[in-house]
Amino acid sequence: MTRNRFIGKTVVISGGAGGLGAAIAHEFGQEGAHVAVIDNNQAAISDVLKSLRAKHVTADGRAVDVRDGKAVTQAIGELANSLGDFDILVAAAGGSLGTPRVMDDISDEDLDLVIDVNVKGTYYCARAVVPYMKKKGGGAIVTFSSIGGRSVSPVTGVPYAAAKAAILGLTRRLAKEVGLENIRVNAIAPGLFLTDRLAGMFENLSLTERNDVLAGIPLGRMPEIRECVDPVLFLASNESSYITGAVLDVNGGRFMTL
Ligand SMILES: NC(=O)c1ccc[n+]([C@@H]2O[C@H](COP(=O)([O-])OP(=O)(O)OC[C@H]3O[C@@H](n4cnc5c(N)ncnc54)[C@H](O)[C@@H]3O)[C@@H](O)[C@H]2O)c1
Repeated sequence: MTRNRFIGKTVVISGGAGGLGAAIAHEFGQEGAHVAVIDNNQAAISDVLKSLRAKHVTADGRAVDVRDGKAVTQAIGELANSLGDFDILVAAAGGSLGTPRVMDDISDEDLDLVIDVNVKGTYYCARAVVPYMKKKGGGAIVTFSSIGGRSVSPVTGVPYAAAKAAILGLTRRLAKEVGLENIRVNAIAPGLFLTDRLAGMFENLSLTERNDVLAGIPLGRMPEIRECVDPVLFLASNESSYITGAVLDVNGGRFMTL
């Protein structure tokens, strides 16, 4: 069932050319939003824009490294000129970015990469969109934490755990700062969603580790991509209008809090 919750809204998705980001971009488009994609993979951006436009979605994109704050601000400015001032940011650029899981194997550059893309990248994207949201009288930001930042995941290493936990602090503090501007800031913390990139990582785990992951999921199955996309759109929509500073765990019950 397609709804129309985002007609007249403009959304920017960082990492919007990736596995989850592209799926999120398509769903926003299906629900009537104008969609901006920023990512550092130009070829993947072109593919996403092509398929969005084939579905008559108004879409544009820029290749930008989210670690470069000035470049992010410039790209968001150009996209706002092209599509309209932003109502929604989904900050999905991130991941463990091919870095090793074990401390002995992790270089200083690996640590910087994971912290900078995930934490600074989320900060720079939020900093760039907030002025447009203030101008419009409100907005919604959805940041990407992870089960790896909420608990001890075997799939990723210490830098990823630190970065995804930091995004939760960023989310809460920013929610406090912009609440009176009617801007909500919430985090999503997905469990393992087998996008192309993650499918490879999952296959590289030992059989015991894979079985541990599955045995730890009370729902007893791996999720569909849609099961991450839908909660993101919920947090971006008016259906969550009194929710801010929250983290939504989307993991089939693998991690539960009190
Ligand atoms: N897939 C999962 O199971 C899972 C679980 C928990 C959290 N997450 C988080 O969800 C988000 C999306 O993950 P995904 O599975 O779609 O990964 P993905 O690798 O498919 O997508 C990430 C996108 O970010 C882009 N990117 C990487 N570095 C960048 C940079 N410096 N500047 C701009 N763009 C950059 C990549 O080009 C890619 O398109 C990430 O933040 C990830 O940590 C994913």
